[in-house]
Amino acid sequence: MLRLAHALDRQLRAALERAFPQAAAAAREAGSPLDPQLAPASKPEFGDFQANGALGLARTLGLPPRKIAEAIVAQLAAEPGFAELCQEPVIAGPGFLNLTLRPELLAAEVRARLGDPRLGVPSVAEETQGGGGVGAAAPVIVDFSSPNIAKEMHVGHLRSTIIGDALARVLEFRGHPVLRLNHVGDWGTQFGMLITHLKQVAPEALTTADAVDLGDLVAFYREAKKRFDDDAAFQATAREEVVKLQGGDPVSLKAWGLLCDQSRREFQKIYDRLAISLSERGESFYNPYLEAVVADLEAAGLLVVDQGAKCVFLEGVSGKEGAPLPVIVQKSDGGFNYATTDLAAIRYRLAAPPEGDGARRVIYVTDAGQANHFAGVFQVARRAGWLPAGASLEHVPFGLVQGEDGKKLKTRAGDTVRLRDLLDEAVERCEADLRRRLAEEERTEDEAFIRQVATTVGLAAVKYADLSQNRITNYQFSFDRMLALQGNTAPYLLYAVVRIAGIARKGGELGGASSGDGATSEAAAAFPDPLAFTEPQEWALVRELLKFDAVVAEVEADLLPNRLCSYLFELSQVFNRFYDQVPVLKAEEPSRGSRLALCRLTADTLKLGLGLLGIETLERM
Ligand code: ARG
Repeated sequence: MLRLAHALDRQLRAALERAFPQAAAAAREAGSPLDPQLAPASKPEFGDFQANGALGLARTLGLPPRKIAEAIVAQLAAEPGFAELCQEPVIAGPGFLNLTLRPELLAAEVRARLGDPRLGVPSVAEETQGGGGVGAAAPVIVDFSSPNIAKEMHVGHLRSTIIGDALARVLEFRGHPVLRLNHVGDWGTQFGMLITHLKQVAPEALTTADAVDLGDLVAFYREAKKRFDDDAAFQATAREEVVKLQGGDPVSLKAWGLLCDQSRREFQKIYDRLAISLSERGESFYNPYLEAVVADLEAAGLLVVDQGAKCVFLEGVSGKEGAPLPVIVQKSDGGFNYATTDLAAIRYRLAAPPEGDGARRVIYVTDAGQANHFAGVFQVARRAGWLPAGASLEHVPFGLVQGEDGKKLKTRAGDTVRLRDLLDEAVERCEADLRRRLAEEERTEDEAFIRQVATTVGLAAVKYADLSQNRITNYQFSFDRMLALQGNTAPYLLYAVVRIAGIARKGGELGGASSGDGATSEAAAAFPDPLAFTEPQEWALVRELLKFDAVVAEVEADLLPNRLCSYLFELSQVFNRFYDQVPVLKAEEPSRGSRLALCRLTADTLKLGLGLLGIETLERM
């Protein structure tokens, strides 16, 4: 419906312009053109849209708002295309303008989407057609997941993985070239500690692949960290080891490579299960660019040496007692840190190819605890002059994952939860629920079916539970809640898709497959032309279906996948109300076919929407 909203906005602006030519010219001159303030109607009884601009203009124009609204309405009548788009506008209260789209237009919009694989969502290429801007072709980077080598991938990384993947899918669907970067923690002091420790306790791990397993490696890392903190001699050796590694010593490099490989394979198993793709570009990738960061900052006059460390002091933020806060770029011992790597990454990502990625939007998905880190490095990058016009760096923070007790998620024994176990448990619980349900319904299904449904629903539940929360808040992990068949859950949404597939099995014609090659009419041919709707439940569903494009646009701008979840949940509820209250298969034509068209479009919208969240759907469950 975005296209219609834009058309209406243009017409309203033109009407205002013609109603008040002098004021409009003056406002344009001042850089803030008269705004009709078009917005979706806040209540269904107001129609589809409302325009409340008259109220704000009363002072500027020296007229009562109702008079202004009347003048706009008078001009609208003469506006080309308006009568085809809208019914007679209604002026309400002190001067609100309520606008209702023509029902036949809405029905035609629904029909146009039958079999359209994009469901009315334009691609960036279509939008910028003729504009020739670089915006559409420049890659968007989503930096997500990003676990650390030789450490366990934890639930925080799982959140980043799930949210980052959903954002990447939305951006890809819109037609942006997306780089899905896994900024793996594969460099730095931790390797010095680990290699030093392993040389003493398990030297075979440094020369032979898989000599120890990852669980042991994590334990070794913990021991190494303890020794590093407690034992000065160990610390000194570990630091020498880092220098050797960073200097390219072949023995150290080989050991490092083995350790990374082993972790990498473990991470990959999780990505494979979740069907999430990522390109690994770890911290080590930026090692050759660290010196240049220091040189650039020096040249920009930003570097200050403070107690031997090279820093940039931040503007607009201060620490305890108003002391200025630094971003440390190079430590007094010459070493670089997490922030330096991120600065090098920004510089590389924004630089034009072939020296860099040429990105114009870089999105970082991490826990909210890193907000200050990113605010700091973003500021330094901006002041260093690395941001080309129109480029943006965006931190997408999320809250903690908590157990049902509101504390940090732990196993019963008090250990950190392993992701593999967490996914296994979701699938197992799903399987148990399914077997119970099958027994109750006296249905028999083969094992392959049970396995497939349990896997799909279990993983969908884990992803959806995470995505449906506003990511900024902490989130309580509960298997019972995420697997429930009622409420804003994956099973509820998947069930709506299954319900519609059931309509087809009962003889409802839902049309052929969607296709991108202009064969839309083939899928639409199965339905009446024009579609005919009479019941309020039908119109409610029509209006809900037509919101999809606006929701996608919103997620692209605000990077909040929970908006898409809320929409899909609302759509399922509106659909279920429609299907429970209005006969479909038993209705007469053209109602029957028109209602089946709504079923088809609902299923397509749910499938596409869930697909953008990285969630697969089922035909039966
Ligand atoms: N490895 C980091 C961690 O586990 C996350 C990295 C996020 N990305 C970045 N460019 N800093 O917390």
